[in-house]
Amino acid sequence: MFLTNSQPKFYGRRQGRKLRKAKSALIDSFLPQLTITPATVFDKKSLFGHPVEKICLEVGFGNGEHIAGQALKNPQDGFIGAEVFKNGIASLLSLLTGIKEGAGLPEKITLLPERTDNVRIFDNDIRLLFSRIPDGFIDKVFILFPDPWPKKRHAFRRFVNPENLKEIARILKKGGLLRIATDHKIYKGWALRQTCNFTNDKGEKIFRWTARSSNDWRLPPQDWVETKYQRKALAEGRKPVFFDFEKL
Ligand SMILES: C[S@@+](CC[C@H](N)C(=O)[O-])C[C@H]1O[C@@H](n2cnc3c(N)ncnc32)[C@H](O)[C@@H]1O
Repeated sequence: MFLTNSQPKFYGRRQGRKLRKAKSALIDSFLPQLTITPATVFDKKSLFGHPVEKICLEVGFGNGEHIAGQALKNPQDGFIGAEVFKNGIASLLSLLTGIKEGAGLPEKITLLPERTDNVRIFDNDIRLLFSRIPDGFIDKVFILFPDPWPKKRHAFRRFVNPENLKEIARILKKGGLLRIATDHKIYKGWALRQTCNFTNDKGEKIFRWTARSSNDWRLPPQDWVETKYQRKALAEGRKPVFFDFEKL
């Protein structure tokens, strides 16, 4: 983790219950191998130790199911995940290494044999990383089930907002994908309005919603990987939506 002088305020949780032995070991011994540090160079050929085809960014990966699943299905691509919640970061490391709480720890922690080394983690607020990512560097941005902050007085905390969309528009390459999923009734309209109405300094629209029929946003996209929040939403009777936007 590293910080800049101007730290934006983060309103979510940074840690839940105390990590037990295996997850602590993952954070202490394995996370440093995957973290993005001030020395990291944003180069497609070297960021993952080998060249990758596409670079995807997941903002707020939670427990990491989606990024871990995408990285496994797409070994040719590189995945950057940003998450503030330490327990979530430990869960992603557990998915990548197969090390679970209660089982013994190996002498050396490594990725599962079936995995390519194609995930890098920023263990802090993505807003602190944006300025380091070059223009047009990213092919896909995933913002999945962002905290809804449903109260009107908390609306300024919602991640999908003009300030963050401006950075996403800059780092996303032309033709790139921005995917936003949410199950919250207020956030559905909010995310669509914010993104469809977002314009650059010249007043030009930047994101085109690609849906042609309701199935395109009511059903998970073909390359979707299920997440805990999605399962929870369905179990509690809320219907998630999946908005794909093309960067113009
Ligand atoms: C409601 S959870 C959803 C997690 C996951 N995307 C999923 O679908 O299961 C939202 C997550 O976003 C993270 N988050 C919120 N703002 C963030 C930011 N600015 N940078 C990095 N992570 C952020 C939170 O810590 C939280 O874990």
